[in-house]
Amino acid sequence: MPVVKSSDGGSLHVDGFRIRVFEILRLPKLSERLEAIERAGWNTFLLRSDEVFLDMLTDSGVNAMSNEQLQALVNLQDAYAGSTIYYDFLRAVNEILGFRYAYPVHQGRAAEHILSKLFVEPGKTVITNYHFTTTKAHVILQKGRMEELIVKEAFDTESTYPFKGNMDIEKLRETIKKIGRENIVFIRMEATTNLVGGQPFSLENLRQVRQICDEYKMPLVIDGSMIDWNVALIKKKEPGYKNSSLAEILREITSMADIYYASARKAGSVRGGFIATNNEEYAKAISELIPVYEGFLTYGGMSLRELSALAVGIRQMIDEGIIDYELRLIEECVEKLSARGIPVVKPPGGLGCHINAAKFLPHIPQKEYPAAALASAFYLVSGVRGMERGSLSLDRLPDGTEIYADLELLRLAFPRRTYMESHVRYIVDRASWLYRNRDLVQGLEWVYEPKVLRFFLGRLRDKRSWGREVARKYLEELGEN
Ligand SMILES: Cc1ncc(COP(=O)(O)O)c(C=O)c1O
Repeated sequence: MPVVKSSDGGSLHVDGFRIRVFEILRLPKLSERLEAIERAGWNTFLLRSDEVFLDMLTDSGVNAMSNEQLQALVNLQDAYAGSTIYYDFLRAVNEILGFRYAYPVHQGRAAEHILSKLFVEPGKTVITNYHFTTTKAHVILQKGRMEELIVKEAFDTESTYPFKGNMDIEKLRETIKKIGRENIVFIRMEATTNLVGGQPFSLENLRQVRQICDEYKMPLVIDGSMIDWNVALIKKKEPGYKNSSLAEILREITSMADIYYASARKAGSVRGGFIATNNEEYAKAISELIPVYEGFLTYGGMSLRELSALAVGIRQMIDEGIIDYELRLIEECVEKLSARGIPVVKPPGGLGCHINAAKFLPHIPQKEYPAAALASAFYLVSGVRGMERGSLSLDRLPDGTEIYADLELLRLAFPRRTYMESHVRYIVDRASWLYRNRDLVQGLEWVYEPKVLRFFLGRLRDKRSWGREVARKYLEELGEN
């Protein structure tokens, strides 16, 4: 968003876009919401979108697209092989991200599948700042391991440390020594770490990681699914970058990656994904797997229309006029909730506003999934669909042992350029009501628990039917809406 000098001597933020298409929202009544969440097995993934008022489940595939992207969607130059659309996408990757080779895949996890197939062997380790659910699933499916070495501040939701996505450099050196270089397949840095509350890494930290990769000759893989927000937060917070352009910061990040992959559903604001590199050997190995799992190299499982819109998305994702609209809404949401004593992840980062469920519902033990209970309770009292990001998002070990998450979070995602200030006020109001009545919310127990990525399709029930108690109190105080 352009920042201009205001006539009273301060500065003025003006959004560099306007809205030309809108979607009418309907707030389902409380009784419909109760019926819906019961039917959905207390899992917000299983709600239908017409049962939802504000859909803040994710930023994935639901960002507002630009006029130019919509125009690109009607590009009809379809071809199984060698489409001109692919070459335009390649040009965009080359110009903006600086990679010579790039291959579309059907979405981010497809890139993770290909990279895990290529690099991971049984017992070998991927070191990362922090895992993402699908990344970890693919590493584990290849019988590999993930070692997460994020800085300790990431787990202190009250800490305002600006770069909670940083790798702990000391721990990285120790870990390499401990497990041995020969057992490490690559180092992965997630640009804006999803599961610790959309927190960025700094360029200084990435440079240190790069140096260690050089020392030990280890490939550095960057997951750039949400790199736009990481870039914006570096510009805002990292000393020395205030006057750099977003494009320069982005190129500085990508210049350090041996391999770059992304879900295009996020910063790209389309549906798809891709893998890019400058290394000819990696490019060859990747290109051999893509036709097996995704499709021919020049579409990789994506519709060419989406690929055409992705080329535009890559060019626009660091547009100074649009980049931080949702970041400011997240900031406002975090600050307003915090001012009411509601525990949230600080400082405000990218992706969404994250409520600390372990502190919001301290009476619910981790084995009864406080973050999932909070996600369904919040839907019940607001119609707002968030996502559990806690222990339920982790699968059990093969012997059935539960793994407990470092953080129990309810994430309310702010898709790019989608929601508005009145929505923030509504969220704050409903969260405040729930916080006052938090003792009514209890834990959840399994009805059906899938073995892999259980959070997507798992079904639970509310212990002692607490949902009905919450609904009864809400009806009494606030009525059917
Ligand atoms: C950091 C990160 N990596 C990978 C993925 C997987 O991408 P997709 O959902 O397109 O498969 C996601 C999705 O949310 C993500 O946030």
